[in-house]
Amino acid sequence: MSTTVIILAAGKGTRMRSQLPKVLQPLAGQPLLGHVIHTAKQLQAKNIITIFGHGGDLVQQAFKNEQIEWVEQAEQLGTGHAVQMTLPVLPQHGTSLILYGDVPLVHQETLEKLLHATAQTGIGMITLNVTDPTGYGRIVRENGKIQAIVEHKDATDAQRQIQEINTGIYCVSNAKLHKWLPRLSNNNAQGEYYLTDIVAMAVADGLEIASIHPELAFEVEGVNDRIQLAALEREYQAQQALELMRQGVTFSDPKRFDLRGSLKVGQDVRIDINVIIEGDCELGNNVEIGAGCILKNTKIAAGTKVQPYSIFDSAVVGENTQIGPFARLRPGAKLANDVHIGNFVEVKNSSIGLGSKANHFTYLGDAEVGAGSNIGAGTITCNYDGVNKHKTIIGDAAFIGSNSSLVAPIQIGNGATVGAGSVITRDVPENTLAFERAQQIEKANYQRPQKTKK
Ligand code: UD1
Ligand code: CA
Repeated sequence: MSTTVIILAAGKGTRMRSQLPKVLQPLAGQPLLGHVIHTAKQLQAKNIITIFGHGGDLVQQAFKNEQIEWVEQAEQLGTGHAVQMTLPVLPQHGTSLILYGDVPLVHQETLEKLLHATAQTGIGMITLNVTDPTGYGRIVRENGKIQAIVEHKDATDAQRQIQEINTGIYCVSNAKLHKWLPRLSNNNAQGEYYLTDIVAMAVADGLEIASIHPELAFEVEGVNDRIQLAALEREYQAQQALELMRQGVTFSDPKRFDLRGSLKVGQDVRIDINVIIEGDCELGNNVEIGAGCILKNTKIAAGTKVQPYSIFDSAVVGENTQIGPFARLRPGAKLANDVHIGNFVEVKNSSIGLGSKANHFTYLGDAEVGAGSNIGAGTITCNYDGVNKHKTIIGDAAFIGSNSSLVAPIQIGNGATVGAGSVITRDVPENTLAFERAQQIEKANYQRPQKTKK
């Protein structure tokens, strides 16, 4: 069956009080509309038609790499008017699923259930029973069958008692949309073209309206202001944490965890509080992530322990390494197995070999460090001359004394030793000791300058 997904995204979102169009506001690091497009793609929709209005350029720009048909609704004359705009490009056959750019979290399974329920009838919708239906369209049923949707503002007192509401999500045959949409009128309390009126038209045509409920209420919740956005963010994060716990992750507190992207995990991963994962990350078996760590597009192999407040961006970390606290791995950091990276160590575009250690206050940029080397506290690779970046190559089993500056381009051979406090500007051959310091001078019985009393 060929499904078209129609996404309404023309609304202004005045209550967000933002310069950004509402559907571009981020939830879990991704624009609201991005979540809807992602779900539409999971449904293998044949085509996605997005109706834009306010901030159209920005919205189209944000999704320029997606296969989307854009349809403009220059004036927002109602939900029915919005879908009318698609008629020139809407296929005659197949079925359309109507979604909203500001209702980001509807589940793929729920939509599949709707598509399935609609297959027999040609029109179906998602409804929900709520304790406070104020403001929503009410579902009017007779003998259990849906007869119409009445908007709150048009409803009688009796209809306002109805607690079954219209979520706004429908599945309708395209042939019927072509038939019904041109007949909508705006003769109602709000002077708008209501999409909801197609329900009464379907009933008049003798069709039965299929209806389903979502598994979880937040799936059909929309975002109108930042309070609702924050509430949905927490719902989404709670759901992701649950899913990870089902996969075997232990959280110190699942409420204090944020995933803004995807996370693949092995078994027995432990994550302490206030960890943020961004982009696509992977954690192997038994990995432990300490409190306050931030990982972006990073892979960490089995058995590695990360201490608190360490930051990773596009790093690849081997097995059984020890990292942090307060370590910073920047793009291109590549650590082999059993490496130790300690506090206030920054690694950028550098590979560190098996079992090598840089435990304290160090910058390794554009470096290659072999296996079993020890980088002393305060070692700096001077990789930048103000214009170009240069490489530092350190061999296996090298020992770099504390507070050394290695002025790149430079090579330190296997087994070489650099004396503490050196500024090394020439290559150091294998198994050689190099140091560079002014000679120490001693003055016995030295008197420091004294303050004189006035
Ligand atoms: C709509 C439904 C109501 C339902 C409610 C669920 C109608 C007439 N009513 O009411 O039954 O209970 O949603 O939230 O459909 N939009 C456009 N162009 C327009 C108008 C709206 O793109 O001309 C978009 C908005 O940006 C928004 C969505 O459609 O994303 C819903 O519009 P809104 O005005 O909020 O509809 P409601 O009055 O809430
Ligand atoms: Ca609304």
